[in-house]
Amino acid sequence: MSLPLETKIATWQQALCEQGLLRQRHALITSHTGAGNAQFLYEGQTYLNFSSNDYLGLSQCPQLIAALQCAAQQYGVGSGASPLVTGYSEAHLALERRLCELTGHQASLLFGSGFSANTALIKTLFDKQDRVIADKLVHASIIDGLRDSGAGFNRFLHNSVESAERLLQGRQVAALITESVFSMDGDCAPLAAFAALCRQHGTWLIVDDAHGFGVLPGFDDGRAATRMDVQIVTFGKALGCQGAAILGSHALIAFLVSNAREYIYSTALSSASAALALAAVDHCVAHPELRAALADNIELFKRLCDETQIPLLDSTSAIQPVIIGDIAQTLSVAARLRAAGIWVGAIRPPTVPVGSARLRITLSAAHRPEDIAHCVNALAQALHFGE
Ligand SMILES: Cc1ncc(COP(=O)(O)O)c(C=O)c1O
Repeated sequence: MSLPLETKIATWQQALCEQGLLRQRHALITSHTGAGNAQFLYEGQTYLNFSSNDYLGLSQCPQLIAALQCAAQQYGVGSGASPLVTGYSEAHLALERRLCELTGHQASLLFGSGFSANTALIKTLFDKQDRVIADKLVHASIIDGLRDSGAGFNRFLHNSVESAERLLQGRQVAALITESVFSMDGDCAPLAAFAALCRQHGTWLIVDDAHGFGVLPGFDDGRAATRMDVQIVTFGKALGCQGAAILGSHALIAFLVSNAREYIYSTALSSASAALALAAVDHCVAHPELRAALADNIELFKRLCDETQIPLLDSTSAIQPVIIGDIAQTLSVAARLRAAGIWVGAIRPPTVPVGSARLRITLSAAHRPEDIAHCVNALAQALHFGE
């Protein structure tokens, strides 16, 4: 017999609370200062933000703020309908074409978020006749899509070409799915090796490029399509705005237009958002110095951590996790950092595997060297507290 819903909710929340897994929101104040996204206010205190995916500081970029204002004047603030009714405009088409130019894919399809792009792609493309393999650490949206699709799926060991190859031996596998930069570990997939393996086995390579697009070298070289059959890019990370696109062949995109329920039965991304994302893509291409500033900040952070013996994972990206393991300890270190004015995400299961709770520190081109030094000092003190 099912429990009354009030009882079910209370019991469930109580259990999460006891395990240190309750999730909470914080209403932050980020006002535009022209200085990037490196700080915000919360309950009257200023914090350095080491917990954002806005790797290039574009969410506060004056040119992009002006581009959004201009796009809202031109198109209004909403699309008014789903894309197949009257919600698709020249602004969407222009963004899709630009993404194709930059990546070499034939066609593109826009969504309001990366989560819906991933689930739409996967649950529409696969069914119970198909077998798919995916990296052990792929994003929740990919897992949800695979579950909804009914496809058989196996997970290979994280970033292991050998493990993936074993799963491909002797059976027909429709696709190998991975991420370019892993959202919680910050390491990069061996995409060239996966591409070669997939070619050998006649398997599609599908890459969630949420944390790579805009920051990884070659993102705009027009050749991504030679490395990946399908690429999902998001606009809410390095591009600093919102939305996502699936990139692939004409045939794939036409198939999704006719069959993807998330696309067909949902209000289209607004034209103003599409125009903003296009401006952000162009800004990103035109300003390689932002990537250079981010690379300098990553290097500085890693060097200072090395000097203070803070153990890091093997990540060269803007995502630099510090694994603590225990949930309560992770929360307590994050709280100590907060007391020092540093905001860092405490990431717990089920977002990461049990026993690997961590601080997920993210760097931005907008951080100043002194911000990074302060973060590392506070981190060293918080980690070694009580020793
Ligand atoms: C790897 C990965 N894919 C997809 C998404 C979803 O993208 P969005 O935030 O645009 O929904 C995220 C966001 O957390 C992500 O980390």
